[in-house]
Amino acid sequence: MKITHIQAIEVLDSRGNPTVRTFVTLDDGSVGVSSVPSGASTGSHEATELRDQDPKRYQGLGVLNAVNNVNKIIAPKLVNSQSDKLDELDKLMIDLDGTPNKSKLGANAILSVSQALIKAKAVSERRPIWQIIHDFYFKDISPAYPKLMSNVINGGKHADWNFDIQEFIVIPLRQLPSESLKVASEIYHAIQKNLKSKKLSILVGDEGGFSPALNSNEEAFRIIIESAESIGYKNRKDYQLGIDGAASEFYKDGEYVFKKDNKIISGEELVDYYLSFENKYQVYSFEDIFAEDDWINWSLFKKRFNNNDLLVGDDLFCTNTGRMMMGHEKQAANATIIKPNQIGSIYETAEAIKLAKKYGWAVAVSHRSGETEDSFVADLAYASAADFLKDGAPARSDRVAKYNRLIEIENKL
Ligand code: PGA
Ligand code: ZN
Repeated sequence: MKITHIQAIEVLDSRGNPTVRTFVTLDDGSVGVSSVPSGASTGSHEATELRDQDPKRYQGLGVLNAVNNVNKIIAPKLVNSQSDKLDELDKLMIDLDGTPNKSKLGANAILSVSQALIKAKAVSERRPIWQIIHDFYFKDISPAYPKLMSNVINGGKHADWNFDIQEFIVIPLRQLPSESLKVASEIYHAIQKNLKSKKLSILVGDEGGFSPALNSNEEAFRIIIESAESIGYKNRKDYQLGIDGAASEFYKDGEYVFKKDNKIISGEELVDYYLSFENKYQVYSFEDIFAEDDWINWSLFKKRFNNNDLLVGDDLFCTNTGRMMMGHEKQAANATIIKPNQIGSIYETAEAIKLAKKYGWAVAVSHRSGETEDSFVADLAYASAADFLKDGAPARSDRVAKYNRLIEIENKL
């Protein structure tokens, strides 16, 4: 099919900040629409999210320049091209940008087109989005349901620093997405009930997880475990626990500042602190528990922790194959987060997933803290047989959209 029209507009994300939505039209009338998400605890090695920096609009967060780049620079180049060669279209946009981190056109501009092209192809061919992604990028592997990583307690930048650790995550140990979602939802509601009974707040953070005023970071584990037990779910049998430290955010001058626990510790001490989580609460998944360039402590923890558990790089890798190669060489992780907007195109995202799989790492395709109703990552996770789909709490439309899309896939719709 030929691309006949590409148009971007500025819309809002779940935090009420502007983001890019792009419409791609093909000559049979098929339209693909896609919006890009936005992070808060972003890695410094991420591709550029182009913001207008005009203080008179949206506190400088407008994306009219990115929108303009789609409409005035990318569209004229892509319109009249064939839509079939998805990777070549992505490479064309990468070349058009010409910078190492997409700082000219913006990763938000390029990714919105990259995703909308796939969606337009799906509409045109009357096939699910995941099938287009699978057949084009992952045809050598069978699609498979990811397990869910559901962020049920929010801290860090997503909840006004109520906890230093940004996320406390429940990972249901069920095969089907519908069964996993049921476990996550039931635990989420058990936590809500438990907090209410303790007269603690049930207000939520950016990703829909609760953010009660507890006395320590560790108390969050106890709340989850106790709540899950109250409805018959057992840690390590029915679900696993995970954390996302987003530790770059509390790393100051070579040390880690835990405000909640009233302590400032070295990276080596932090290794021991996290190892105690493994022993005391059987925490299974450790994401961004050290700062994004603190390679030494990543490698140290990897040597000392139970290698059946997960050490997950998010800001560490930024879905960037160059960073992943460094991590592999340094034995710094055994799993990676995949966020398309960290790198800025689906072609490059697929390359990162393939490299992770080659290394034998677990793959967690992930949402961002600022999301939209777009559920592209659910299709991507299934198409690439990712081990996990990481999303927020099983509540709020922006988070639930991804879970519900997986349920649609499970039901072959
Ligand atoms: P972000 O948070 O989208 O704000 O970066 C999510 C994460 O750190 O995993
Ligand atoms: Zn993270």
